[in-house]
Amino acid sequence: MASRINLGYNSPNMTGGQKILLSGVKPTGRPHIGNYFGAMKQFVELQDQHKALIFIADLHAITTNQEATSLRQDTLDLAIDYLAIGLDPAKTILFRQSDILEHANLNWIFNCLTTVPYLQRAHAYKDALAKNQEVNVGTFDYPILMAADILMYDADLVPVGQDQKQHVEYARDTAEKFNRVYGGATFKLPEPLIIEGLKTIPGIDSQKMSKSKGNIIPLFAEDAEIKTQVMKIVTDSKTPEEPKDPATCNVFALHELFSQDQLPELRQRYEQGGIGYKESKEILIANLIKFIAPLREKRQAIAADPNKVKAILKAGGDEARKLAQAKMAVVREKVGLNW
Ligand code: TYM
Repeated sequence: MASRINLGYNSPNMTGGQKILLSGVKPTGRPHIGNYFGAMKQFVELQDQHKALIFIADLHAITTNQEATSLRQDTLDLAIDYLAIGLDPAKTILFRQSDILEHANLNWIFNCLTTVPYLQRAHAYKDALAKNQEVNVGTFDYPILMAADILMYDADLVPVGQDQKQHVEYARDTAEKFNRVYGGATFKLPEPLIIEGLKTIPGIDSQKMSKSKGNIIPLFAEDAEIKTQVMKIVTDSKTPEEPKDPATCNVFALHELFSQDQLPELRQRYEQGGIGYKESKEILIANLIKFIAPLREKRQAIAADPNKVKAILKAGGDEARKLAQAKMAVVREKVGLNW
């Protein structure tokens, strides 16, 4: 069924009846296999049947990275990563969040509708507080900037990992609140798109795989790095003969992603006993290398021409800006900011 679109009175009809898909990744270091299976793989798989907008969330990144040189480098690197996994600029609008000034503008308008206790309930904020971090206002307001990213383009679907579900709920609440306060249906309510049954992917220390925790297997890792990281995966101390529970093994959690063909056999050997963690890790290493090596080669080829990558981001930014400006014209009218 064609989705109802509401991009404002002077906006181009960008969808041709297709649903609008939007998501982003923060340029805060190298993306890992958790980012890929949790979200990025879906960006590529869904770009054919949707009107897709995928961006580099650099404004979100500066809540934690305040070093300009590394931010610039991570931003370019992430654009290369996006292209290497198969995002096609002919199908997907690829852009830098900060290139569209309207995101921060809409963020402010939403801030004025958002209460402090409501934001205090956000998991990410509570986690930061629990770690005794001195939380900056940007981190506190993170979900509302994300609401602006999503609602700006009337996204129907937001492919994200499980950990971002609450943020999409904040975007829905914010859309409802704006529509209620200012009247009309200015914003569409987005849905999170979370792969059914896909758990948050564990890192080598068994915590959530996370760019900030040093527990990752990078999506474009070199062979040697794949080996070292997999060998470091935390397991219990059962002998090869002892039966093992696949459901609680971090190595097995990664087999579910990379060893599909061998999965029934591996499961049986785990449950009956007869496979040691060393052998299980060696199988995983071989499968990871098989998966990552071609991606890495593709990435190297794209990285050889950074100016081409920057031109793609610029063109994507120009397209996204037109949509954002059209939406903001509607918002300004509703709020009373236009004369
Ligand atoms: P980021 O860069 O932290 O994460 C990017 C995506 O990767 C998913 N992810 C995981 N999935 C499974 N297992 C894991 N261990 C794992 N770690 C990360 C995240 O759920 C995410 O989908 N807040 C966003 C960036 C953003 C955004 C947006 C996304 C900013 N504005 C608007 C969608 C729409 C984030 O978490 O980025």
